[in-house]
Amino acid sequence: TFVHSKALTELEYLHNAAVCVDRSGVIVAVERDCDEVKARATLLPRLGWDEAEVKLVIAKEGQFFFPGFIDTHLHASQYPNVGIFGSSTLLDWLNTYTFPLEASLADPAKARRVYSRVIRKTLAHGTTCAAYYATTDVASTNLLADLCLAAGQRALVGRVCMDQLSPSYYRDSSPESAVAATLASIEHIRRADPTFTLVRPVITPRFAPACSFALMRQLGELAAATQLPVQTHISENRREVALVAELFPPSATGARDASYAALYDAAGLLTPRTILAHAVHLTEPEAALLARRGCAVSHCPCSNSALTSGAARVRWLLDRGIVCGLGTDMSGGFSPSVLEAARHAVLVSRHVAMGVAGGGSRGGDEKAAEKKESESESEEEKERAKLSVEEVLFLATRGGAKVVGLEGKVGGFDVGMEWDAQLIGLTMVDDAGGGGVEDEDGDAGNVDVFGWESWPDRIAKWLYNGDDRNTKRVWVKGRLVHERK
Ligand code: GUN
Ligand code: FE
Repeated sequence: TFVHSKALTELEYLHNAAVCVDRSGVIVAVERDCDEVKARATLLPRLGWDEAEVKLVIAKEGQFFFPGFIDTHLHASQYPNVGIFGSSTLLDWLNTYTFPLEASLADPAKARRVYSRVIRKTLAHGTTCAAYYATTDVASTNLLADLCLAAGQRALVGRVCMDQLSPSYYRDSSPESAVAATLASIEHIRRADPTFTLVRPVITPRFAPACSFALMRQLGELAAATQLPVQTHISENRREVALVAELFPPSATGARDASYAALYDAAGLLTPRTILAHAVHLTEPEAALLARRGCAVSHCPCSNSALTSGAARVRWLLDRGIVCGLGTDMSGGFSPSVLEAARHAVLVSRHVAMGVAGGGSRGGDEKAAEKKESESESEEEKERAKLSVEEVLFLATRGGAKVVGLEGKVGGFDVGMEWDAQLIGLTMVDDAGGGGVEDEDGDAGNVDVFGWESWPDRIAKWLYNGDDRNTKRVWVKGRLVHERK
């Protein structure tokens, strides 16, 4: 059984099917109603494939193939801090927990240890493609790219740029030196993977408060000149939004107004290849601007809840034509799992439906205005905020592929796409109430299936209760990159 998204609201189930992947990792045929006998007798001869050279992977009962997950926003350098955030909010969290850890990864041995583990861990959770922030350190950022390539994980790897409002021990000394360091990393990654088969560089201004306007503008120019993707954070936290308005008056930047999105636009950072993490507190004109520029949003629900940033309105973003994917935002987010992000996306959408949008400290006027707004919203409109199982799994796969610029290449099982996939195993409970087939693998039954559940119900059980124990094997571009032992 192969399960993948057909559209935002629809999963397709291909039962008793065969997917044929060639040596270069490309799907060349998807055959329905094709058991092993038929595959050998008719499919292989039709493709002209020699049976002796073909490797057959056959799912057991209770197992299915699903596209690999795409994590559209995470900080590889913050992995040692997962779960460590106390009751901090964004700006104090950065100073207390994050900057000291990131700065310490200039030690190459420490960086190797952390990055090797992040890649192994995310692959084990089915993440076949990740948009990584590294640190300001060029050598260890390049090492992250090399390690992704060696492990076979698809990745966007960004050297972090920040030349203000951060500690003196962890800051670029000038816009020029930040751009030069970015170029050095781009060059390295291009040499390591000249055709971008797996790994590509991404221009990474950390977020507006930590970048001078000169730096943002130079990175915007670099994005235009290289046509490379851009990743940054936007409108995550109310104090951050206020800080941006205070630091960057439109009179100094030429921006059309004092909004976060207008600032990035004035710097040339809003491109069709730009990934904007969070987007919790955007205004209507900002959303319209992002839609016009073709930017994508990485929704990071675990992080937004953990750091009390707010509840991003994904339906609202989608309704405005903005491409969305999911991000774990480790370690603002506490888990390396995109499945975890997907189920929190479901829950956060319930909170939005209950009227909990945005967050942080609001002025009285704003609160009153919002109350009025939510009262005028019909029950039906509120209900619409809820994301379904199908929708969050779309965001985790095909939506994410769009966000990272790989639409049509990964995220589904269409002919011509590359085989980035995971084999998921659920526990088929036997007649005695035991774990049946899956117990052979030594796994406790974290997702129990009794056999009478429909396939959509099985997928829902996986979404809400699944974890890396269910991720039996993972492939990227046809190569086996993880096997659960
Ligand atoms: N804004 C600026 N830097 C960061 C970061 O590392 N994580 C999150 N969540 N937001 C940020
Ligand atoms: Fe982040």
